[in-house]
Amino acid sequence: MARRTSDRERGFALSRVIAIVNDKGGVGKTSIAANLGGQFAGAGYRTLLVDLNRQANLADDLGYRGTDIDDEGAGLLGSVISGTPLRPAEDVRPQLDVVCGGARLEDLTPIMVSRLQHHGREAFRVLGDVLAPVAADYEVVFVDCPPESTILTDLALASARWVLMPTKSDLGGLLGMTLVAERFTLAREINSRLGLLGVVLFATGTRARAVQGEALAAIDEAFGGSSPRFETTIRHAERTAQDARRLGKLAHELEVEAAAQPAWWEELRSGSRTRRVSATAASVAGDYRALGIEVLTALQAAEDAEKSEKGRRPRAGARRKARA
Ligand SMILES: Nc1ncnc2c1ncn2[C@@H]1O[C@H](COP(=O)(O)OP(=O)(O)OP(=O)(O)O)[C@@H](O)[C@H]1O
Ligand SMILES: [Mg+2]
Repeated sequence: MARRTSDRERGFALSRVIAIVNDKGGVGKTSIAANLGGQFAGAGYRTLLVDLNRQANLADDLGYRGTDIDDEGAGLLGSVISGTPLRPAEDVRPQLDVVCGGARLEDLTPIMVSRLQHHGREAFRVLGDVLAPVAADYEVVFVDCPPESTILTDLALASARWVLMPTKSDLGGLLGMTLVAERFTLAREINSRLGLLGVVLFATGTRARAVQGEALAAIDEAFGGSSPRFETTIRHAERTAQDARRLGKLAHELEVEAAAQPAWWEELRSGSRTRRVSATAASVAGDYRALGIEVLTALQAAEDAEKSEKGRRPRAGARRKARA
């Protein structure tokens, strides 16, 4: 009975955990994690980002690489080894905390291999176990998953309530997505609540409608015929992407910076040679805002449907009270 109660609490604490997954590299997982995290936090939602990547690009996108908070994944590794709750670094932005990834996560794979040998696939639940006690403090948690790393992504799939899957419309992105579809089905054996929140097309030209059509048909096929997908696509904007990683700023922060910089002819006249921020940041920020709204709407719709199925379900505010 005690086990059932604690499973229910765990499920509730993890009910807003969204794993951002695609086995293919470079399809926008980290950019979407960082920018959605920033959008939600900016809108006043207590938000947590968990970085499961050894290369930890989230540290670049949010500008904390090499700072005091950057433990290179040591905290996450230690929590998984000892089974103690994660301890996020606080206030990377107002309302936005982060569990850092990094080189120390190298050691996680052999540890998990050994545990899998002893305990089978149930061992993947450990991330949820160490995340649940802190997840209750947040209104939304995004887990940024690595490419081509079965074990780390399986950890995320075993603890998350939702999968958000970015893809490019090329063959590589679609293939990565098909692999996720297979692992998604396996993960549901130990995490029956796991659901696909939606697929989002990333860095796809807005005019490539025919290609997008093919990509969306492949998504349907991979997830058995009826996959939810977001209307919003994140436009291709290389200069904004470079500005973001160079400056450690999110698209909406670059938008503010671009608006504040002097007109190019004034800079030319004054002889200033500072590198300008691309004005496209405003459009990219708009894409992330639209995606954020869609994600929130999808979450709320799913939760309302679940509530009406099961009767009563506490709201986000009640989550924080219950924890206090
Ligand atoms: N809107 C955009 N248009 C074009 N390129 C972008 C855009 N946003 C980000 N990028 C760039 O695309 C590359 C891949 O993005 P990102 O790192 O978010 O993908 P990922 O799926 O997390 O990759 P990995 O699997 O290697 O972790 C990065 O170099 C990033 O700077
Ligand atoms: Mg990444």
